[in-house]
Amino acid sequence: MIYFDNAATSWPKPRAVEGAVKRLFREPYGNPGRGGHAAAMRAAETVYRARVKAAELFGAKGPHLVCFTGGCTESLNAAISGAVRYGMKVMTGTTEHNSVIRPLIRAGADISYFDSLSDEETILEQVRAGLLLGVSAVVCAWASNVFPTVLPIRRIGALCREHGAVFIVDAAQAAGIYDINVDTDNIDILCAPAHKGLYGVTGCGITVFSEGYDVRSHPPLTVGGSGADPYTAYMPDRLPERFEAGTLPLLPIAALSAGIDFVRSTGIAAIRAHEESISAAILDSLSGVSGVTFYRPSYGPLLCFNIDGKAPEETAALLDSRGICARAGMHCAPGAHKYTAPDGSGAVRISFSVFNTEEEAEYFCDVIKDVIRL
Ligand code: ALA
Repeated sequence: MIYFDNAATSWPKPRAVEGAVKRLFREPYGNPGRGGHAAAMRAAETVYRARVKAAELFGAKGPHLVCFTGGCTESLNAAISGAVRYGMKVMTGTTEHNSVIRPLIRAGADISYFDSLSDEETILEQVRAGLLLGVSAVVCAWASNVFPTVLPIRRIGALCREHGAVFIVDAAQAAGIYDINVDTDNIDILCAPAHKGLYGVTGCGITVFSEGYDVRSHPPLTVGGSGADPYTAYMPDRLPERFEAGTLPLLPIAALSAGIDFVRSTGIAAIRAHEESISAAILDSLSGVSGVTFYRPSYGPLLCFNIDGKAPEETAALLDSRGICARAGMHCAPGAHKYTAPDGSGAVRISFSVFNTEEEAEYFCDVIKDVIRL
């Protein structure tokens, strides 16, 4: 099987990730932060080590600024529902995922858009204009989940800082592939999944706060036991307890910890270069082949395309029958598909990891040529 759906979830996982999860079945573990016995302390240490590694990876000023959640969607819901008040002017991009758009709509935000696929200076001009008109939060993805495109995050963040606006970044497709530093990129709240570019497993996300962000004015999404301050009626003001109600997902956190080790030892630049080499091999081999259209093609971690006369689902099913896993449809980002098939039927996406090979890219191109001939 050729797995080209790494933007949905990465596969395979590194051996060390498998080992980290298995270890928790072999050795006793308790509930992290909910007991002083040896098994609970082992669990707490596992969580703390993961927190330290995530803080280092994303440039947080301390491990307490990293909160664990059930996934990137939960992190985004928590960030948006806490930071955005009803009627608040918020700006986002035109190609955003529903995990940004729907929480903004539910929060009652007064939403305006910058054109995510414009050139950098136009995007910045649109963001600046929004901020001057009273936008008090900007929420957007570092990298699109439909096109191999990224936003000028550091410069958008600098504009937000200058105007006192909150800056929330969805790193679903960026964590582990691009260098992210909440401090130098001027990000107030960063949301990321464990199971994509960080090579962990599903069931865990992280929220990373900048040191200066005022969490006291930010209500938590979920309240409950925090393992601390049991007599107070409210969640503690301090991090990470404020945003971690209930038992943490220990197994996915242990997997994430090993995944971060893998990413750091392999090197983010090397991972990105490898994924770019796979997309380069595909684009170069299929350039000039008529019958296939790539949307916004460039050498990046994913590619999005359609084959003339075929619905995306039909193409994906044909690929599947030849052993290739690809995702078809709208990819939960309907705004992005205004730029793909004009009838709004979406597109096929292939997305890579460090484990894909040039041979797989070649095989994919052969299959695409066959499908065009059908
Ligand atoms: N958001 C993930 C994707 O783009 C699931 O496939």
